[in-house]
Amino acid sequence: MANQRAGILGTGHSYPEGILTNADLEKMVETSDEWITTRTGIKQRRKARPGEYTSLFAVQAARQAIERARLDPSEIDLLLCATVTPDQILPSTGCIIQAELGANNAAAMDIVAACSGFLYGLSLADSMIRTGQMKNVLVIGAEILTQYVDYTDRGTCVLFGDGAGAAVLGPIDGGRGIIGAKIKSDGRYSEQLYSPGGGTRLPPSAETLANGDHYFKMKGNELFKVAVRSMADVSRDLLEKAGMSSDDIDLFIPHQANQRITEAVADRLNVDSSRVYSNIAVHGNTSSASIPIALDECVDAGRVKEGDIVLMSSFGGGATWGSVLMRW
Ligand code: ACO
Repeated sequence: MANQRAGILGTGHSYPEGILTNADLEKMVETSDEWITTRTGIKQRRKARPGEYTSLFAVQAARQAIERARLDPSEIDLLLCATVTPDQILPSTGCIIQAELGANNAAAMDIVAACSGFLYGLSLADSMIRTGQMKNVLVIGAEILTQYVDYTDRGTCVLFGDGAGAAVLGPIDGGRGIIGAKIKSDGRYSEQLYSPGGGTRLPPSAETLANGDHYFKMKGNELFKVAVRSMADVSRDLLEKAGMSSDDIDLFIPHQANQRITEAVADRLNVDSSRVYSNIAVHGNTSSASIPIALDECVDAGRVKEGDIVLMSSFGGGATWGSVLMRW
């Protein structure tokens, strides 16, 4: 079975009902709908209510993906949950989801790679399936980012939203499936987007809570430039290695961080806007959930057909980035 291509057999997504609009944010911080719309493209984002936690949405997304793959949860061999907002430190959110799904034959774990987590998962799933070590792999991206957002910091609070997306991968024939995947990171950028408190370095205490040390801190404009360059470079490398050009791409699904980042990357890659998917206006940035939510929306809307060449690319805290190229 070695060198069997891995394809996506089913997708799913889920998100909280609660909506936080730009008008709501105008009442919380010194900002405006006009600023948020022109600088980011975001109009609203989903926000979990108290009592709603990451695995709730992950399980719903995963159930849909497994159903669409026409599998039983017991047939999942590996469950990867990409998240930077786990239910709790221990056990992994992956294990919590596994129990909830009844995916009792799987090995389960979390991937901490911020917005690139889902593509890290696809890349690992591809290797495991290609080498014959695993048959069916469930990759989930799930986040409740709004619990780590400081709603007094206008530089970050307008960006982030909550949700979950999932994909089941398995062996596939007919030239379909993942053509190439490339994941990268550079820890020297770690302080451009980070949450300093709550771990062993700065353990949770009344003081860290009062200081808001558990909230995300971000140097947005520095990240912006690195994001555009990294996503474009890694995508170009992947296309070149596959002997393809941007003309071959039917659908480009970038991580939804900022509409201006999406446009700048698409521009560098020479992919016109009709081939680029964007849902940032309604979801904001949902980190690891952003690409699988977008992918499932594309499936639902019939925007991706069998045989289409799909390019996905992401960039996130770490810094981490990567791209996956596949024939649907
Ligand atoms: N409303 C109004 N004004 C604002 C707001 C706001 N919400 N936020 C910032 N500003 C102000 C700033 O204070 C600044 O004012 P000043 O000039 O008086 O100092 C001005 O707007 C410009 O600020 P910049 O930070 O330079 O604005 P920029 O155009 O870069 O947009 C943004 C900021 C939206 C954060 C952008 O930099 C961005 O999207 N960065 C990338 C984020 C990203 O990709 N993160 C990584 C992925 S996320 C993950 O891994 C979970």
